[in-house]
Amino acid sequence: MQLADTARIGIVTVSDRASRGEYEDRGGPAVGEWLHRALRSPWQPVTRLVPDEPEQVEAALRELCDVERCCLVVTTGGTGPALRDITPEATEAVCDKILDGFGEQMRAVSLRYVPTAILSRQTAGIRGNSLVINLPGNPKAIAECLEAVFPAVPCCIDLIEGPFLETDPAVVAAFRPR
Ligand code: MTE
Repeated sequence: MQLADTARIGIVTVSDRASRGEYEDRGGPAVGEWLHRALRSPWQPVTRLVPDEPEQVEAALRELCDVERCCLVVTTGGTGPALRDITPEATEAVCDKILDGFGEQMRAVSLRYVPTAILSRQTAGIRGNSLVINLPGNPKAIAECLEAVFPAVPCCIDLIEGPFLETDPAVVAAFRPR
C-alpha cells in the first residue's frame, strides 16, 4: 500500500467520431468530473481519445496500465451492439482476469433507468496492478454506472497493491471488509 501516493487514473474515450473531431468528447470529461466529486485522496487523470479500433484501444489500455502506471483505467463508449463497438473485447484481450460482477452490477442498476441498458456489454478486469472498467458513452450512464460499482473499487485497488483511495461518503461510500 502506498499511502501518500497520488493515484493515477486513466480515462479512455473510445469513439470514432470524437477522435475525428466530428463532435466534442463529453464522456471523458464526465468521468473526470464524477471522480473529482467522489475522490478525497489525491489523484491525477491521464486521458486518451481513440477510435473504435481494437489495436488502438488495446494499445491505450496497455500503455495506461504498464507505462503510465494507472491503478484504475476507466473507458467510456464502444460497449454496445453496433458493428464498430469493440471496447469489451479489447478489455478482455489485455486483462489477466475478468471481473464479471462489474458488468452484472452496472447492467442490473442501469436497467432501473433505461431498458436499453441491456444493450451494454460492459465488463471489467485486472491487468497487472491495474483495474480496467468499461462504461457506456452517455454522460448520464457514466454517473449511473460509477455510482453502482465504485463502492467496491477502493477495496479492489487495495487487493492489487495500488494506492489507498478515499472517497467522499456523501457521493459514494467505499466498502472495505474488516
Ligand atoms: N446505462 C445507463 N446506466 N444509462 C443509459 O442511459 N444507455 C444504454 C446502455 N447503458 C445507458 C446505459 C445504451 S442506449 C447503449 S446503446 C449501451 O449502454 C451501450 O452504449 P455505448 O455503445 O456508448 O457504450
